Amino acid sequence: MDDNKAWWETEIINVRPDSIEFRGYKIQDLIGSVTYPEMLLLLLKGELPGKYQARLLEGVLVAGCDHGPNAPSVAAARMAATCGISFNSCIATGINVLGDIHGGAGEQSMEIFYQLSGQLADDESNLPELADALCREFKAEGKKLPGFGHRFHKIDPRAAALDRLAQEAKEKGEIEGKYFRIAHALHKALRRVLGIELAINIDGISAAALCELGLPAKVFKGVFSLSRGMGLVAHALEEYMQGSRLKGPCPKNDETLVKYTGVGEREFPSS
Ligand SMILES: CC(C)(COP(=O)(O)OP(=O)(O)OC[C@H]1O[C@@H](n2cnc3c(N)ncnc32)[C@H](O)[C@@H]1OP(=O)(O)O)[C@@H](O)C(=O)NCCC(=O)NCCS
Repeated sequence: MDDNKAWWETEIINVRPDSIEFRGYKIQDLIGSVTYPEMLLLLLKGELPGKYQARLLEGVLVAGCDHGPNAPSVAAARMAATCGISFNSCIATGINVLGDIHGGAGEQSMEIFYQLSGQLADDESNLPELADALCREFKAEGKKLPGFGHRFHKIDPRAAALDRLAQEAKEKGEIEGKYFRIAHALHKALRRVLGIELAINIDGISAAALCELGLPAKVFKGVFSLSRGMGLVAHALEEYMQGSRLKGPCPKNDETLVKYTGVGEREFPSS
């Protein structure tokens, strides 16, 4: 071990007897003064955000909280609640199914937005061209562009609401708005290249917001877990209060939902 380094080094929190400080601010000054998204940005970035930046993050946290039991994370938490495990384990069960396919596409969106941002001309005049090229590349490789499309929604109502918060933060000079412009340019490019209308989904629009806030792509799944965690607490509690026990993924004996497709019944080989 490096003699000059402590075992754990952190710039986030300083805990001493009778004293807790976050990024230099005393906890007793923060409690009652800062909101949850302000605290989250203080923890992640080291400084208190502007009011409208915090409102944008608050919007992201509210937007992703729940999508009903048809979302695997919600179903998993509810199913877990019927199995007699601890309440926090129910929440963790839901959180643990979040990944690149469910709830985590925003990490890839952020990487793409940052990559396009690095290629943008100062006046952004090459944005449509860059967006078209990327969509053509995805199409040629048969890949789906993360952050776009939705199983249920042709227009995701959450995207327009976050757009409004972004617009407000931009008007107040607290964000630049570049990543929202990139997200919308990709939306239009998908229409041009694929000839279909695909919604900017919650991952895509949240990714734009987190880029505007200067956060690294790696943080996306963590922020989404905080957001969805709120919904999972409500769903696990509701299922628990309904008193179901050992609820499976679908009604039992329904062969339209569970179908055996293996070999037929056969004799066990005698020795
Ligand atoms: C979410 C998702 C799985 C829904 O897919 P879906 O149910 O097939 O959606 P649709 O039926 O509306 O798709 C219509 C067509 O658009 C294509 N499409 C959908 N999303 C696309 C995307 N992001 N990029 C490119 N093409 C896409 C589909 O392949 C389909 O084409 P086809 O008819 O030639 O097969 C898909 O949009 C996707 O994988 N998106 C990227 C990942 C993502 O953002 N996930 C977070 C979701 S909240």
